[in-house]
Amino acid sequence: MSYVLITGASSGIGKVFAKEYASRGNNLILVARSGEKLEALADTLTGTYGINVRTFTQDLSLQDSAEKVFDFCKKEKLAVRTLVNNAGFGLNGAFDSLPLESHEKMVVLHNLTLIKLTYLFLPEMKRRNQGEILNVSSITAFQGIPYNAVYAATKAFVLSFSESIREELRHSGIHVFALCPGLTETEIFEKTGIDPYRTLMPVGPPEPVVRAAIKALQKNRTYSVPGLINKILIHGGRLLPRTLMLKLGMVLSRREKSTVKTLAGNNLT
Ligand SMILES: NC(=O)c1ccc[n+]([C@@H]2O[C@H](COP(=O)([O-])OP(=O)(O)OC[C@H]3O[C@@H](n4cnc5c(N)ncnc54)[C@H](OP(=O)(O)O)[C@@H]3O)[C@@H](O)[C@H]2O)c1
Repeated sequence: MSYVLITGASSGIGKVFAKEYASRGNNLILVARSGEKLEALADTLTGTYGINVRTFTQDLSLQDSAEKVFDFCKKEKLAVRTLVNNAGFGLNGAFDSLPLESHEKMVVLHNLTLIKLTYLFLPEMKRRNQGEILNVSSITAFQGIPYNAVYAATKAFVLSFSESIREELRHSGIHVFALCPGLTETEIFEKTGIDPYRTLMPVGPPEPVVRAAIKALQKNRTYSVPGLINKILIHGGRLLPRTLMLKLGMVLSRREKSTVKTLAGNNLT
């Protein structure tokens, strides 16, 4: 019996991935820190769709967390066919005004754990000549974002890493895909203290983002930027000098900062 493993499934985009994959009859492994939320979601999805849902409560910003997830799946004999590396959080503030620990947690969660989960689950996918790896990046992958410096850098890493291994795995039957959403209505903004509507960028719900991602993965696309305006901004922006795009990023960040307080120690609990 094969499974779709989704990290960060307790809210936002990850929760919508869980619902969407469940509605298509897939068995799920849900991972996040909020065990109760995962259990509640698992009960709902099992009751509605008659699928198997397993949960694993884990802080993925810890260095050895990927091994723990992998060991759980191995012990329970859960074959992961699709890996959705989605868990993430935001930070909001000047680079040196935020605790070093928060930057470290972000790099581990967004990058190291993603690499390790990919590395650990890949051999089994290769043996079966079949598998899917969906990594959640962001539109911030395409340029530096002042006051979101580490966030944007970790998301650029996710896109670059995904593109590279995708080519390495081209003839293996394994699809690797990077999702680069624009501003999406989830809990991330409340947790981070950012008002997305002040940035002047389009803001949309997570459902179309997730549906577009699953479709793009099935079509074996390299990456996708959901939403027409996001596509125009990202692809049009690539024709402009990087320094100009950075200045624009600075203007949008300043605009957002003009009314919203900075949360310096967020997401460290
Ligand atoms: N919303 C946007 O505008 C947007 C845009 C581009 C990209 N993204 C990316 O989309 C992904 C999902 O974010 P979201 O917008 O859906 O935010 P969200 O609603 O805050 O959900 C984040 C998920 O990640 C999990 N998570 C956070 N820290 C974790 C940790 N240390 N260990 C394990 N799980 C952790 C959270 O679960 P627990 O708190 O229960 O652990 C939650 O399930 C992130 O990678 C984010 O960077 C979001």
